Amino acid sequence: MRLKDKVAIVTGANSGIGKAIAERFAAEGAHVGVNYRVRGNNAEVAQAIVKSLPTEGIAVAGDVSKREDVERMVAEVVAKFGRLDIAVSNAGMEIKKPFLEVTDDDWNKVLSVNLYGAFLISQVAARQIVKQGPGGKLIFISSVHEDIPFPEYASYCASKGGVRMLMRNLAMELAPYKINCNNIAPGAIATPINQAVLDDPEAKKNALGEIPWGRFGRPEEVASVAVFLASDEADYVTGSTYYIDGGLTQQVTKY
Ligand code: BGC
Repeated sequence: MRLKDKVAIVTGANSGIGKAIAERFAAEGAHVGVNYRVRGNNAEVAQAIVKSLPTEGIAVAGDVSKREDVERMVAEVVAKFGRLDIAVSNAGMEIKKPFLEVTDDDWNKVLSVNLYGAFLISQVAARQIVKQGPGGKLIFISSVHEDIPFPEYASYCASKGGVRMLMRNLAMELAPYKINCNNIAPGAIATPINQAVLDDPEAKKNALGEIPWGRFGRPEEVASVAVFLASDEADYVTGSTYYIDGGLTQQVTKY
C-alpha cells in the first residue's frame, strides 16, 4: 500500500483519467474525495464509484471554476477525514475550433475550467496543507499540449501551457512547505474527451500515426504515475512534467 491512510481529492473524478486515479489511490489505501460537476447522471456515477472503492471515500459535488464550490469541496473532505494530503487537478475540457472562429465564450469556458480551476484547487488545497502541516502533494493533469501545439485548440493549448507555468511556479513557492508540485502530461488516452476521434476511423488512424507506441493510452497508465507522484517515494520530485504519451511528444519530422 503506497498511500495508506492518505487523504486525497481528485477533481473531475467521475470519468476518464480522474476516475482511474481515484480508484488507484483507493487501491493503495487512500481516502478519496471524488469530485464531479452536477450535470446529467454524474452524481449517481460518482456515488457508485465511491461505493466501489476499497477505502472510505466521499463524493463531492462542485464546479472547479467557482471558488465557493472548490472551498466547500475541500472543506467536505477535511470534515470527513480530518486532513488533506494530496490534490489532483484533473477536471478539464476542450473546444475544437479554427482560431479565427473562436468566441469569447469558448475561450473563457476552457480557460476557466482548465487554468482558473487548476489555480483554485491548488490554492485551496495548499492553504489547507500549510495549515495542517507537514507537506503534501499537488498533481496537475495537464497535457502533451502544455508544450506542443495542436491546431484548432488554441484555448486548450493556452490553458495547458498556463498549467505548466503555474505548476513550476508553485513548485518554487511551496517548496518551503514541502508541498511537491508536478504535472502529468497525457497524450492520446482512451477517455470520453477523445470519444469523437475514437469513433471516427479516419481520425483514429491519423491519431495512431502520430503515436510511436501505436495505440491510445489507458487511464490506468496515467493513474500509475499519479500514484508514484502522490507517494512518499516522490518526496524529492518537484517542478517536473511526466509525459505519458507513447512517445507522442518526440515529434519525428517525416518528409
Ligand atoms: C487532448 C486530446 C488529444 C491528446 C493528444 C489531449 O490533451 O485532450 O484531445 O488527443 O491530447 O493530442
